[in-house]
Amino acid sequence: MEGAFIVFEGVDGSGKSTVCRKVASALGSEGRKVISTAEPTHEGIGAFIRSGSAGGISQATEALLFVADRNDHTERIMDWVSEGAIVLCDRYFASTVAYQSAKLDGDGTDRDWLLSINSRFTSRPDATILLDIDPSDSLRRVGVRGEEVSKFEKLDFLEQVRFNYLRLAEEYGFTVVDASADPDTVFDKVMSVIRKVI
Ligand code: TYD
Repeated sequence: MEGAFIVFEGVDGSGKSTVCRKVASALGSEGRKVISTAEPTHEGIGAFIRSGSAGGISQATEALLFVADRNDHTERIMDWVSEGAIVLCDRYFASTVAYQSAKLDGDGTDRDWLLSINSRFTSRPDATILLDIDPSDSLRRVGVRGEEVSKFEKLDFLEQVRFNYLRLAEEYGFTVVDASADPDTVFDKVMSVIRKVI
């Protein structure tokens, strides 16, 4: 059977990881070979990013690290797909554009730069599913209380990230799924998108 490369995107707490797990188990029980993976990865540069050891670096350097991690990851993903696996990837290049352009907070040139550094090191997914949700709902869902939200100014930041994602979705043809719906509805919609490409 042919492989496929499916990407899940969304703000923190949008339910990506849960949906990925459910999809992996549904496709696995149909006898499909499924590989679940995520960015930042848990190896090499991805593990370095996750370890927090990269403290004190500039936002631009952080963006370059995410892309460097993606470059090696993309090679592995393409190998898995060519071996016939359905690869479910939790975050890909849109995460860097949506999050790092919100962090860099500069003029439009930051976004253009982020798109251009990614373009050289990414492959086109067969489908990208954006789990779209209002960040105040997603933060509540993951148990962040109101006073913590304002303390970290996280809500403003994630609202910008969501806006960036929706713009990318239009430009790159991502499928937007309303992640505030009940979990079964979200899962059914996601599966119907995936069935079209596998
Ligand atoms: P996340 O998917 O939340 O990982 P986990 O659930 O395993 O902790 O990703 C961690 C954070 O990294 C998240 O806040 C988004 C951020 N991130 C970026 O800012 N840019 C990127 O390119 C990627 C891949 C992630």
